[in-house]
Amino acid sequence: MKILAEDFTIGNLLLTSLLLFVVGFVIKYFWKRRRIYYYSTKIEGPFGLPFVGTIHPFIKGKDVYFTKTMELAEKYAPIGKIWLGSHFYVMISEIEDVENLMKRCLAKGQMYEFLKPGLGHGILTAKLSTWGIHRKILNQTFNQTILNSYFDIFLKHSNSLIIDLKENYANIQTDIFKQYGDCTFKTICDTCFGVDSSEWNQQYECMMWMAQGMALVGYRFLNPLYHSDIVWNLFGSGKAVHELCTKGYAVVRQIVSTKKQLLENENSGDTKYKDFLSCLIKLTEEENKWSNEEMVEETLTMMIAGSDTTAVTLSFTTIMLAMHQDVQRRAYKEMLDIFGNNTREPTLDDLNRMDYLECVIKETMRLFPIAPVLIRKVLEDVIIRDTMIPEGSNLFIPVHYIHRNSKYWPNPLKFDPDRFKPEEVEKRPRYCYLPFSIPPRNCIGY
Ligand code: HEM
Repeated sequence: MKILAEDFTIGNLLLTSLLLFVVGFVIKYFWKRRRIYYYSTKIEGPFGLPFVGTIHPFIKGKDVYFTKTMELAEKYAPIGKIWLGSHFYVMISEIEDVENLMKRCLAKGQMYEFLKPGLGHGILTAKLSTWGIHRKILNQTFNQTILNSYFDIFLKHSNSLIIDLKENYANIQTDIFKQYGDCTFKTICDTCFGVDSSEWNQQYECMMWMAQGMALVGYRFLNPLYHSDIVWNLFGSGKAVHELCTKGYAVVRQIVSTKKQLLENENSGDTKYKDFLSCLIKLTEEENKWSNEEMVEETLTMMIAGSDTTAVTLSFTTIMLAMHQDVQRRAYKEMLDIFGNNTREPTLDDLNRMDYLECVIKETMRLFPIAPVLIRKVLEDVIIRDTMIPEGSNLFIPVHYIHRNSKYWPNPLKFDPDRFKPEEVEKRPRYCYLPFSIPPRNCIGY
């Protein structure tokens, strides 16, 4: 074919350049990821389409996510693959491998990027280089002595919760999460932040913003079409998440400024910097360990990580007690054994005697872990069971599958708190139960 000089118009040139640019971009993109594609073929798992990934099992959305990922973990155990959007996930189901990898791979996976509009550089989403330093410092604000010193605050808010439930919700249907959320939010304010929660009249709204934000992020994770920031912001709920975050940050900024005021009014001394927020403000202002913005993000992270999780777990525990009346009777009997008919306040010592209730809570977290899946990023190649997991992959740890695996939990769907009697616990490997994840990047509040 003859190409004539008049074919080279500016329009044609621009179009050709654009086409070359796009082709170049696509080639570069696939070339950079060639090792992932190559090694992904060596791992079994469902088929994934380019860019959108393994969507067919999840076509019905969030309602099937829990069961489908359980099925996939079981089908492809011990190592399976799954493509979520354009990201490659390796599903690890054997607990020895899980323990090994969770101790080695400490960077958070790609999904945590979706949490960043809310949690920013807070410790939950922090990149590895800052996480180690921040975690070491924050660990100091979470020791047993400090927790014990909060006991009166725990009592105060538990008592208000009981009065509220008795007076306003006896014999009527209610979403218990609201009352628990109110209680756990106030408890975090009074303990970790050391500010008087009665001054905040937005507790309920704040909990709901957090819950809504989390639900939207979960929805985004399951919808590969929304993984791109541009698509999410233009056509998804990016704007709604942004608004929720703005409201959440406004509350946190208010808390931080109240706390600063309180610290200024206090006399300096050893007791001055004992709670989490005092410590954080000190490290920000005096040692520049956090920037002002990072300090606010860290505070919001702690607010969400500490209150939403506990409220959800309490809600599930209540449902389990309601559904299993025999368990409820035993838990109640334990209280009678401790308190008799005395209506005195519980003590720390009493708490340590509530063995059965502790088993009830643990069994609830087995069946309904707050983080049913844990995700980590693989920063350098690892080999597990002769299988190469290349740098750039994500680890997908199906906690819900491990918690319901009949190998460790006979009759796994049965709600049976006796599984957590010390003699039963001893029979099982340690990490077949991981509601707080695995150290060192596990729950700081655990
Ligand atoms: C029933 C209650 C709780 C459960 C089940 C729970 C569970 C978890 C889990 C599974 C993780 C790991 C998340 C991941 O790897 O993505 C985590 C991390 C974390 N939790 Fe909790 N948590 C609870 C309560 C709390 C409380 C009360 C606080 C603080 C007051 C807290 C603060 C944190 C923080 C800051 C992290 C991030 C740690 C890091 O990355 O170094 N959590 N939690």
